[in-house]
Amino acid sequence: MKHILKAEQFTDVAFVDKLCESAEKLRAEDGKGKILNSLEGKIVATLFFEPSTRTRLSFEAAAQKLGAKIVSTENAMHSTKAAAGEALPDIIRIVNQYADAIVFRHPEIGSAEIAASVSEAPLINAGDGAGQHPTQALGDIYTLKKEFGKIEGLKIAMAGDLKFGRTVHSLLPMISLYKDVSVYLVSPPQLRFPEEYKKPGIKFEESENLDAVLDTVDVLYVTRVQKERFASEAEYLKLKGSYVVDKASLSKMKKDAIIMHPLPRIDEIAPEVDSDPRAAYFRQAKNGLYMRMALLQELLAKN
Ligand code: NCD
Repeated sequence: MKHILKAEQFTDVAFVDKLCESAEKLRAEDGKGKILNSLEGKIVATLFFEPSTRTRLSFEAAAQKLGAKIVSTENAMHSTKAAAGEALPDIIRIVNQYADAIVFRHPEIGSAEIAASVSEAPLINAGDGAGQHPTQALGDIYTLKKEFGKIEGLKIAMAGDLKFGRTVHSLLPMISLYKDVSVYLVSPPQLRFPEEYKKPGIKFEESENLDAVLDTVDVLYVTRVQKERFASEAEYLKLKGSYVVDKASLSKMKKDAIIMHPLPRIDEIAPEVDSDPRAAYFRQAKNGLYMRMALLQELLAKN
């Protein structure tokens, strides 16, 4: 695999499992304070045309923990010559002159594929608009395995903005690699999960009612209503706050269920939930770091 663009590239469950094992190994080595240097001499570029905290910083931390160096544009829409009208393929060709890998985020669906088509260096899609976010999904798969030991047989609700939320667009195809998973897609009708990301082999139920599935599911994967994708503020305000997970929700959930969220949250998970051991979202963010180390190593390390 040269570029990482979408979840559908991951067709081999053994490969995904291997990445999770490698993430786990890197975590153990990191925990022992070992200096890792498998990417020594490499330069990773992070080229972000959209805001980011977790994805960019975790990739940069991951690269540095492996001994690579970083060149970065955190606000590329304004701070690169995109602002002067330079075309994306040219920007990518130029970054190729300096870096060994490119971590790329952009507001347009399909932009990562366009960028990768002119990139000799491995290019990683770190979110293309309302399209996909495959490295988040890999981190989420690692989280599910770590929390439950296995993914087979889990009942997973994905709730919130399933139309524009790119993390679930990548997570669902990735989950379809595992057997007997049931997925409950819970959203307002305007924010339904797009057909194109649904995969055969997964049992779906779609509804608007989160309360009705709370006592059934092992995993509640909450997403933010994606303000930046709406045509108007008024439309966003109508749907913001569609679901709020709070202490009352927790009281209906199984004792060994978990709550995940790619973050950032706005108001869809009340802070009172954070102290419950079922709140897995901060653990999930840490897992993303080790999965990104595993991925960078897979793409860049000399074997
Ligand atoms: C997500 C994203 O950017 O798609 N954040 C992340 O990468 N962890 C989710 C979001 O912004 O809602």
